[in-house]
Amino acid sequence: MIDVPVQLNDRSYRISIGAGVLASAGDRLAALTRNRRVAIVTDETVAGLHLERLTAGLAGFETVPIVLAAGEATKGFAALEQLVDRLLAMEVTRSDAVIALGGGVIGDLTGFAAAIVKRGMGFVQVPTTLLAMVDSSVGGKTGINTKAGKNLVGAFHQPLAVWADLDCLQSLPDREMKAGYAEIVKYGLISDPAFYEWCEANAARLLAKDAAVLAHAVAQSCRAKAAIVAADERETNDIRALLNLGHTFGHALEAETGFSSGLLHGEAVGIGMAQALRFSAARGLMAKAEADRFTRHLETVGMMAWPRQAGIAADAAPRLIRHMRQDKKRTSDGLPFILARGLGDSFLAKDVPLEAVEAFLAADLSVGPARAAA
Ligand code: NAD
Ligand code: GLY
Repeated sequence: MIDVPVQLNDRSYRISIGAGVLASAGDRLAALTRNRRVAIVTDETVAGLHLERLTAGLAGFETVPIVLAAGEATKGFAALEQLVDRLLAMEVTRSDAVIALGGGVIGDLTGFAAAIVKRGMGFVQVPTTLLAMVDSSVGGKTGINTKAGKNLVGAFHQPLAVWADLDCLQSLPDREMKAGYAEIVKYGLISDPAFYEWCEANAARLLAKDAAVLAHAVAQSCRAKAAIVAADERETNDIRALLNLGHTFGHALEAETGFSSGLLHGEAVGIGMAQALRFSAARGLMAKAEADRFTRHLETVGMMAWPRQAGIAADAAPRLIRHMRQDKKRTSDGLPFILARGLGDSFLAKDVPLEAVEAFLAADLSVGPARAAA
């Protein structure tokens, strides 16, 4: 078992990582709340796979499962209202903890419900996707999507604990594993060249679900995210923004594909990071060979590295730029981009002209293999 602390004064908590963490869920929860009744929010898919194991681990607690539909559409006002009503009907108190068992959708929604019920109650993140284990369950960003866009309504609300049971990953489809891997290699690319090299050497074993490799990757990612969150909990001093490497390019690709299951968030981030590095090379900030090395790495492990592979049309550059203009990170000073000086040396650039981005995109969109026929 690996324990990673997230140091946030009175909001500090631990991320417990290992195979079989859920077996001790009861003891873990008893240390967080005196109430013996607990709601478990999950989705239909995860309920069928892992709810029984969590419930068994919570022996001694009365568990109340709240099972929602699987998928991004659940992260909206309708499910939020349903969830809040259920929690209030249970007469939860501020000192209760609700458990989020699932991927980022369930974690973000449940965390937000916990932030607003009675002006804030406790919650525990039990991430079941690789992406949720290494990113969304850590750091306290919670929220939902609205008609105007993704993650536009939310709150910073830290969990009381994160229990990442690596056994949950055994049922995770290969495509979701790869989406999660994008967020893992991101930590190497941001500021840790040694971890980047480790990722290159171990990605294939990680995607094949080698237990030791997964444990190291999840722990190292959580340590990296915990350090960034401890230094900049609310994204106010340019440190947490580094976690957005590849996200401005990737978000535009997600918008262009209608935020559909045709392009998962992690897949878009993978392509977006490759683009951020190729753009950095095109601007003379880093060696082209280094940027190409990352593109090749994604290709080697069977991940998309080019917008064309996601079905983005060669003439999409102006539309992608329009999506970027809507980006919620844009301020009156412009749109910040995370660029790189090398593999493991990323920085926030606030002075990137969108004309330069558009010229880069116009060329980048015609390169790479076309989307494989479904
Ligand atoms: P998800 O929650 O939709 O899960 C992906 C799919 O996998 C779902 O169909 C789910 O039912 C299924 N699933 C979950 N666990 C499984 C398991 N163990 N075995 C088999 N199937 C399983 O998606 P996600 O990729 O986990 O999260 C994406 C969401 O996270 C997005 O809404 C994104 O905005 C959010 N996010 C939030 C943060 C943050 O800091 N809060 C960071 C990154 C992403
Ligand atoms: N996933 C971005 C963040 O947590 O800040």
